[in-house]
Amino acid sequence: MTGRIRALGGTDGSRAWFDRAQASLAGGISSSSRLTSTGPHPYPLYIASGSGTRIRDVDGNEYLDYLISYGSAILGHAAPELTEALTAVLGTGSMFGTCNTAEVELAELICEMVPCAELVRFANSGSEAVQGAVRAARGYTGRSKILKFEGHYHGWSDTLAISNRPGISEAGPYGTPHPVPHSPGIPAGVVDDVVVCPWNDPAALRTLLDAHRGELAAVICEPIVANNACTMPDPGYLGLLREECTARGIVLVFDEVCTGFRTGPGGAQALLDVVPDLAVFSKALGGGLPIAAFAGQRHVMEPLARGDVKHGGTYNASPLCATSALVTLRRLNQPGVTKHIEESGRRLMEAIRRAAHDRRVPCAVQGVGAMFQAVFTLDGAPTRQYRDLLRTDQARYHAFRHELLKRGVHANAFAMACWFVPAGVTDDDLDATCEAVEEAFSAL
Ligand SMILES: Cc1ncc(COP(=O)(O)O)c(C=O)c1O
Repeated sequence: MTGRIRALGGTDGSRAWFDRAQASLAGGISSSSRLTSTGPHPYPLYIASGSGTRIRDVDGNEYLDYLISYGSAILGHAAPELTEALTAVLGTGSMFGTCNTAEVELAELICEMVPCAELVRFANSGSEAVQGAVRAARGYTGRSKILKFEGHYHGWSDTLAISNRPGISEAGPYGTPHPVPHSPGIPAGVVDDVVVCPWNDPAALRTLLDAHRGELAAVICEPIVANNACTMPDPGYLGLLREECTARGIVLVFDEVCTGFRTGPGGAQALLDVVPDLAVFSKALGGGLPIAAFAGQRHVMEPLARGDVKHGGTYNASPLCATSALVTLRRLNQPGVTKHIEESGRRLMEAIRRAAHDRRVPCAVQGVGAMFQAVFTLDGAPTRQYRDLLRTDQARYHAFRHELLKRGVHANAFAMACWFVPAGVTDDDLDATCEAVEEAFSAL
């Protein structure tokens, strides 16, 4: 798959597969977020193959891919070094349910790359690893409540699938939001253990910390809020979280499922220079295979290391997934790799900014180069909190994204999510994307 990208032709093949899927897959999908992957289309795209920065659907349409499996396929699709290493593992046995050498080398590399990591445990998905970090924090402190921020996403499991996307009518007062379960089926007892706080508001944070003095095991956040269109922390805000947690004996957890190994070899904690007690990783860690980790400072991980706090998983750090992660991290740790991702993304951000500015369309392009989002705010100012996003023109983002899709650029379908830039993106890819951005804005 090289050369000029092909504009979106018909997608009847995808429609037919989706119709067929209704009979056997619940809702025709394997994850609730997949339904919207074609934006305004009432059916998702079925992708048949991928190579490097490009994917091809079952109808033969080709796209430059800035979803890259929600940031996971960071080395690109079917990356040759991964294919070679994984083929070798498949030939010698992909999983034994015992210990393996790749997991040790991988844990060592994570401890070398990530500031907070002194001990690591592996899991299979971000949701699981969040659960592990929360368990570790509760086990360490002997407390049960967790403070999370409105709009931040920490996976689908009961523990923290709360106030991810509350509607304004159910969200409660600004400073003391209600904990709103993301789905029926989450028990009230679990919801009661979650305290919800607005992001980037020091006074609201201190009020809630005071109100729950002695009750909180952890404060958890996305340091760059990928799931709120890459809302950035205000200068000094992460440092404030660090200070308050230290002073109150609360475990500070950074959910780096999106930022980890992408925003730089040490993730957001290195980029923004604030070291949490625990951090959670997935997505870019695995290079496209299902692996996750929670890692942290020795004293917090110690009860788990002793075996007092339990954590298990048949598939944790299988040789296949651990090898995939090892190859991926070794590459991301090479000089210049994450810098190239960052600089390429900055070029795209600038192109979107310019296209919007030239047409006098208010649009904030926010985040960092490696992960960013175009947000159609009413005044063009960046968002600072989840509730700001409720006042943006999400329909316009969906239209923009669809115009890009028609021109062979595949970006995240969710206005509240973000674009992810792959390591192998070339100047030609960037030129083609910038051209598509110009045309898409003209078509809006
Ligand atoms: C910040 C963050 N945390 C946790 C998760 C959950 O990860 P998974 O979907 O692998 O369970 C996600 C998934 O998108 C995420 O973005």
